[in-house]
Amino acid sequence: MSVSKNFSAYRGRTVLITGGLGFIGSNLAHKLVELGGVEVILLDALLPDQGGNPFNVESVRDRVKIHAANMCDDWAVNHLVGGVDYIFNLAGSVSHLDSMLFPQRDLELNCAAHLALLEACRNFNPHVKIVFTSTRQVYGKPLYLPLDEQHRLSPLDVNGINKLAAEHYHLLYHRVYGTRSVCLRLTNTYGPRQLLRHNRQGFIPWFVRGALLGEEIELFGEGRQKRDMNYVDDVVEALLLAGADERCEGEVFNLGGDEPVMLSELAAELISMTGQGSVRCTPFPPERQLIDIGNCYSSYGKIESALGWRPRTPLQEGLRRTVDFYREHGRHYLTQDERTVS
Ligand SMILES: NC(=O)c1ccc[n+]([C@@H]2O[C@H](COP(=O)([O-])OP(=O)(O)OC[C@H]3O[C@@H](n4cnc5c(N)ncnc54)[C@H](O)[C@@H]3O)[C@@H](O)[C@H]2O)c1
Repeated sequence: MSVSKNFSAYRGRTVLITGGLGFIGSNLAHKLVELGGVEVILLDALLPDQGGNPFNVESVRDRVKIHAANMCDDWAVNHLVGGVDYIFNLAGSVSHLDSMLFPQRDLELNCAAHLALLEACRNFNPHVKIVFTSTRQVYGKPLYLPLDEQHRLSPLDVNGINKLAAEHYHLLYHRVYGTRSVCLRLTNTYGPRQLLRHNRQGFIPWFVRGALLGEEIELFGEGRQKRDMNYVDDVVEALLLAGADERCEGEVFNLGGDEPVMLSELAAELISMTGQGSVRCTPFPPERQLIDIGNCYSSYGKIESALGWRPRTPLQEGLRRTVDFYREHGRHYLTQDERTVS
């Protein structure tokens, strides 16, 4: 991992990561273990169809504590939050499509679970630091680009609405009870340890999978939508910076990538990098068209001014590291029939 900042604030501290067996949570856990001197606790319910995967922490298994529990479970959460210094609150359901198919479930995972966590903090650790991972989906269809934090908030799907509500819960508990919350609005994040089994958790891992298996990568429309992307190490760095800095409490920050890229360009890059795969343009499925936001990318100017964060991993390098990871470990992320990754 290329992060070179000094994260000494975490030394001798106890850190709880909710969603810690998932994609971003497990990468954060690896970084904290690498920093040394940090007690790392992971809470994860390994919910079906989400990115939780025990293999994600295989190599640090003896240096983290794992609690298999749902954050909605008051008893479990009440017992966990008491002694911790930092909470990285990453548990959640990522799929926008699923949120439209199963809105009550999204409400439970992206709202009720967070209220349960915040209530536990209010009762047992009111001044704990919490970094919450929100999404740039809270803006909805962009009125202008890049999106900054002043942009109108008008989510286009149930997931965006619930993530926005959860942001507000965190900010409310900060204002009223002194919980030291900060919210980061993530953009498309990619890298090792991300779910590859289905295409409802974002297009990047799905494209990576298609290229690795030499399959067709489907581009909706002609794949001309422009998106920004962050390599997961850069997101981990932002989380740690936000956790360590008191000045950002009560604030909301965008993350964002450097250069927006067309989806067709991303697919072409992966096909050329792996030497296999192809693209097929296909009309948008109606259920996706209804919640599509078109071109979308964020400005990271606010967090750059406040915390000195900017994305540091060029797309090609990030994709290379991602492809290398799955070439070595793909069998832990694919089904039995798909396991010959070349
Ligand atoms: N990956 C992205 O591109 C992206 C973009 C924007 C925002 N985010 C946000 O970042 C966070 C992490 O995303 P990710 O990509 O690592 O997702 P992920 O699916 O890989 O990991 C989420 C983990 O949370 C766990 N979980 C969910 N609800 C839970 C609950 N109630 N109790 C216990 N565990 C629970 C799941 O089992 C899973 O392991 C999410 O909140 C997501 O909304 C991610």
